[in-house]
Amino acid sequence: MTQLFVLKESAPGERRVAATPETVKAFVKHGLEVVVAPGAGFAAGFTDKEYQDAGARLSDAAGSADLVLGVATPAPAVVQTLKRGAFVVSSLVPAMQKSDVDAACKAGVVSFGMELIPRITRAQKMDVLSSQATCAGYQAVLLAAAELPQLFPLMMTAAGSIRPAKAFVIGAGVAGLQAIATCKRLGANVEANDVRSAVKEQVESLGARFVDTTPEQSAETAGGYAKELSEADKQKQREILKKHIVESNVLITTALIPGKKAPVIVTKDVVEGMKPGSVIVDLAAPNGGNVEGTVPGEIVEINGVKIIGYTDLTSRKAGDASRMWARNVLGFVELMLKDGKLEPKWEDEVIAATCVAKDGKPFNAQAKEALGVS
Ligand code: NAI
Repeated sequence: MTQLFVLKESAPGERRVAATPETVKAFVKHGLEVVVAPGAGFAAGFTDKEYQDAGARLSDAAGSADLVLGVATPAPAVVQTLKRGAFVVSSLVPAMQKSDVDAACKAGVVSFGMELIPRITRAQKMDVLSSQATCAGYQAVLLAAAELPQLFPLMMTAAGSIRPAKAFVIGAGVAGLQAIATCKRLGANVEANDVRSAVKEQVESLGARFVDTTPEQSAETAGGYAKELSEADKQKQREILKKHIVESNVLITTALIPGKKAPVIVTKDVVEGMKPGSVIVDLAAPNGGNVEGTVPGEIVEINGVKIIGYTDLTSRKAGDASRMWARNVLGFVELMLKDGKLEPKWEDEVIAATCVAKDGKPFNAQAKEALGVS
């Protein structure tokens, strides 16, 4: 019987879990034996009893598992204890985690990085980047609302009327669109910008105003992703955005260029031009930040403007972030299961693109590049 093991996360601040009682039930139905580390779901709000009721056994021993699930990449010390040939499905980005790719090769495990799932229609249900960014975009707005010394909505009270807060969102991808929707639900007036003018309609459909900074040179790849702006276009964008940002009470930045350091869009003079009490949440903090002055993991204050650079926004909504992550993983594992056994079709583009290490060697192009082998 194929044995699946659910790790208890050990990275500092990581509260998510890679399988929930709901997905455990589905794995059991597929004929797998499910073992869950005691307390694995506690920080996300799932009890050991719920996992047991779903059909799992509790144990700390991962050594006999055929399939190991984690959110963060398991530490090399953990990977070493796994069976050779065991499948490990977790977060793993080879370009930034060379030593983890190396550890997977040395241990002879078959490692998969959930962030590498191609963004094609068939794989949408496995897309952890989207599901986690949804939680991050939502949580970013709640953090801003809590720190802002103002209310978000228009209020007509006996003490007079209170004007709605003004929010500005840079980058209207998954996190940005969720941030716009959340700001709107809380009643703020919202403006947004993105280098891809294709998102204008989506921004407007959420009731926000699109601030157009259409670059002279196209900033979109053939696949519809953003690419880096020319120096002249960066300057043009900064000048247009400055006027809007200094008028805003809340700024949420989410701009990301796949595989690159995040672009710096908001310079220090713009931050200093904002009114004291304003709040910036820089979601790009883990990738270097979109705002000059962001410190990853911290709140800093510049001239009375707070910049929140937390890197654990998804973990701050660990229950639903885990529900989504776990369903994404279930969808991916189901692609590799045949009659309860792990039998991946290696030529399947979703599996091939996601597999980082196999048979002691780096597997996909990103892993080979990270280790410098061809
Ligand atoms: P995405 O790739 O869907 O969206 C990024 C958007 O930024 C795209 O629409 C892109 O066109 C736009 N963009 C790129 N360069 C730009 C520029 N110069 N000006 C304006 N817009 C620009 O990414 P997603 O999934 O929405 O994630 C957004 C960010 O949130 C990423 O940096 C991601 O790492 C981060 N994130 C942070 C978390 C945290 O705890 N802080 C948790 C989860 C995600």
